[in-house]
This record gives sequence, structure tokens and C-alpha cells, in this order.
Amino acid sequence: MSLLEVRDLSRHFGGLAAVNNLSFAVDEGAIHGLIGPNGAGKTTTFNVISGFYKPTAGEVVFGGHRISGLRPSRIAARGVVRTFQATTLFQELTVFENVLVGCHMDSRVGPISALLGSNRRIERETEARAQEILEFMGLGELRDDETVNLPHGHQRALGIAVALAAQPKLILLDEPFTGMNPEETRRMMALVERVRNQGVTILLVEHDMQAVMGLCEQITVLSFGELLAEGTPDEIRADPAVIEAYLGTA
Ligand SMILES: Nc1ncnc2c1ncn2[C@@H]1O[C@H](COP(=O)(O)OP(=O)(O)OP(=O)(O)O)[C@@H](O)[C@H]1O
Ligand SMILES: [Mg+2]
Repeated sequence: MSLLEVRDLSRHFGGLAAVNNLSFAVDEGAIHGLIGPNGAGKTTTFNVISGFYKPTAGEVVFGGHRISGLRPSRIAARGVVRTFQATTLFQELTVFENVLVGCHMDSRVGPISALLGSNRRIERETEARAQEILEFMGLGELRDDETVNLPHGHQRALGIAVALAAQPKLILLDEPFTGMNPEETRRMMALVERVRNQGVTILLVEHDMQAVMGLCEQITVLSFGELLAEGTPDEIRADPAVIEAYLGTA
């Protein structure tokens, strides 16, 4: 069953079709890859799915409901949460505090409960949840460290922890493996797998082909904003159009 459906989606910037008439679907529980050469439209697709950009045409359907046109906070509240290509952590806060910020972006903890005086209880629950996520992501020991002092691999893991704090059903990861050494890559692959095994569907934008091929069941390939190919890792690896798109820009 499809959790996410992108239907005939276009996003133009002036005369540039960053995404053009793109359709693909992501199965519930999958790790689904979205790949393509630089400038292919991957991040733009994420920006439209998460509501940061309105589509020029087409729609995005999540869990059977249209989400395109909703504000990013509404889309996040439905359970679609993204991470960013560049880190957006609060460098001067601790690791724990960053995850707490993520917890508070979960708008399901509404103002009513605050009015009813259950504030303190909610705060305790939030802190417990933040702690649980940190441990889940292997960051428990670093809880009170200042974020600025974390090594790169841990910063990327913390970015995912912040996204998880919003309790997503679908998480959009934009190049989580960038700049990682082989050991960090191996650890991040195991983490992504663990997140999925918790029941979170993953849409992964990534240039690291070893990570993409190792993790994804299905891959959608973009080139110049358009769908180039779709299939399993084996099918994509052997696809002449994909090989040409990559070699042509290398
Ligand atoms: N806000 C914007 N205004 C104008 N052009 C944009 C904007 N955002 C993206 N573009 C253009 O749209 C195209 C697709 O960009 P996008 O960032 O989606 O590519 P990408 O596939 O994520 O590339 P990369 O792998 O380098 O991150 C590029 O030509 C880019 O310059
Ligand atoms: Mg990008």
C-alpha cells in the first residue's frame, strides 16, 4: 500500500522546471530512494512534499489525503517530517536540548492541555521521550555535550533524532551520509534501518550509492526534474539511462 503518492508534480522557478510532471509512490514501511545527478530536483521535491514550496501543478497525497497546499506545520502534524541537506541544529544548545526543541514542534501537544494545568506532566513526558530517542540513536552518552563539539557523524544522527522527536510516520532524509567516513556511513546505515524497523517509512535522497543500494527496496531516479527510471537496486544499477545520466554529468 502506498503511504505517499506524488502525482504529476511540477515546480517551476521562473522559466526553470526544477520538477516536471513527476509521479511516484512510496510504500508504507519502505526505505525508498530518490536519486539523481546534482540539480535533478530532489531537494525541490522534498520542499514541495513538506510544504515549504507550493507545487506549480500536481498534488501530493499522504495516507489517502491531499497534503499539498497545507502549511509545513500542518504537514508535519500529519506525520511528514524532513531533515535538511545542511545541518540546522542549534549549535550552542546541548544534544538533549536540540531533541527537546524537536519534541515541541510536535503540535499534537496542544494549548488545551497546557490550560488544564497538565503542563508539568507533559514536560516530564517530553523529557522522557527525548531521552529515549537519544538512546535509540546511540547519542545517550552525549546528552549534555554542546552540539558544536559533536563529530560530524553524530551531528547528522542528532539531526535525525530531532526529526524523530516530532513522531513522524514518514521521514524525508536529504543526504544524511554526506561527508561521512566509512565507519560513520556504516553506523548511519544501521540507524536508518533501525528507524524503519520502528515503523517509520523513509524517503532517502542520497548520492552515496553504496548506502542507497544497501538500504533501499525501491529507487526513483530523477534527471532534469523528470522521472528517469524506477525499480529495485539491481534494476537501477543495470539501467542504461541511469548509467548515462550519471556518467554524463560526472
Ligand atoms: N528557490 C529556488 N529558486 C530558483 N531555482 C531553484 C530554487 N531551488 C532550486 N532551484 C533550482 O532547481 C534545480 C533543482 O534543484 P534541487 O536543489 O532540487 O536539486 P537536487 O537534486 O537536490 O541537487 P543536489 O544533489 O545538488 O542537492 C536546480 O537547477 C536549482 O538551481
Ligand atoms: Mg539537494
